[in-house]
Amino acid sequence: MTARRIDGKASAAAIRERVAQSAAEFADRIGRPPGLATVLVGEDPASAVYVRMKGKATAEASMASFAHVLPATISEAELLDLVGALNDDERVDGILVQLPLPKAIDTEKVIAAIDPAKDVDGFHPLNQGRLFAGLEGLVACTPLGCLHLLKAELGSLAGLDAVVIGRSNIVGKPMAMLLLSENATVTMAHSKSRDLAAIVRRADIVVAAVGRPEMVRGDWIKPGATVIDVGINRIPTDDGKGRLVGDVAFDEAAAVAGAITPVPGGVGPMTIAMLMRNTLVAAHRRAGFAEPEDL
Ligand code: GUN
Repeated sequence: MTARRIDGKASAAAIRERVAQSAAEFADRIGRPPGLATVLVGEDPASAVYVRMKGKATAEASMASFAHVLPATISEAELLDLVGALNDDERVDGILVQLPLPKAIDTEKVIAAIDPAKDVDGFHPLNQGRLFAGLEGLVACTPLGCLHLLKAELGSLAGLDAVVIGRSNIVGKPMAMLLLSENATVTMAHSKSRDLAAIVRRADIVVAAVGRPEMVRGDWIKPGATVIDVGINRIPTDDGKGRLVGDVAFDEAAAVAGAITPVPGGVGPMTIAMLMRNTLVAAHRRAGFAEPEDL
C-alpha cells in the first residue's frame, strides 16, 4: 500500500469535540443548549441503529436530544403534525426525519414540511436550491463530511479534476455542487456513463457514491489521486457474519492512490460529526449569533 489512509474517525472526533465546546458556550449565552429532534418511523433495524447513534452523539456534544419513535402504521397527517410541532418548538434547532419512510407516506411532502432553518439534513428543496445557487443554507451531512476530508488532505481544490460517481440527491448531486464551489472541475458520472474507467482515470479526486460493492477498481485510479469512498455495502462471508466493503476495491486502489478513506472508519463517522455541526450552526443562526468558527 502506498496511499495515505484518511482517518475519518479521528477527524470526526476532533469536530465533535469542537462542537461540544461551542454548544456549551451557546448554552451559557442563551440559557439552553442547541437541540436536535430525531424522528424514526417503524422498526427498520438499520435505521434504529443510526438514530440511536445520532442521539448518543447529540448528548456527547452537549446538546439536547429529542427522540420521537413512531409506529410504521402512523398516517402521513399525524407525521406532518409532529413535524409542525417540532417546527414551532423553540428548544428544537434541528429536525431529522430518518429515511426511508414507510411506503404509504409521501417522503417529499414530509421533507418539504420541515422548517428550512431547522433542516439539518439539508434535504429541503430550499436548501438544495441555495446550495445550487451558491447561497448560504444547510448542506447534506455526508457530502459536507467528504468535502471536509478532501480539504484537510489537499488544501485548495482549485483547478483539480474531480469525478463524482453516483447522482443521488443526498450525496452525488450536493457533492458535485460543493466541489464546484471550491473551484474544482467536476464530472458527474453514473450508471449510464460510457467508459467509466476512462473517466475516473482522469480524476485527481474520486468520490464514489453508487452503493455497488468494490465497483471502482485499482486500475481506474490515477497515481496519486485522492479517493473518497462513500459506499457501505455488506457482502456475505463464509462465517455468515458478512463484511463491510465500500464502492472502491480498497487494496487495489490503495496501491495506486495518494490517499484513500477506509470502510468503515472513513466517511461514515464524518456524517454524524457534520450533523452535530449543522445543528450547532442552525442554533446560532436561529439565535441571531455569528456563525461558530473553526468547524
Ligand atoms: N437514511 C440514510 N441516511 C440518512 C441521512 O443522512 N439522513 C436521514 N434523515 N435519513 C437517512
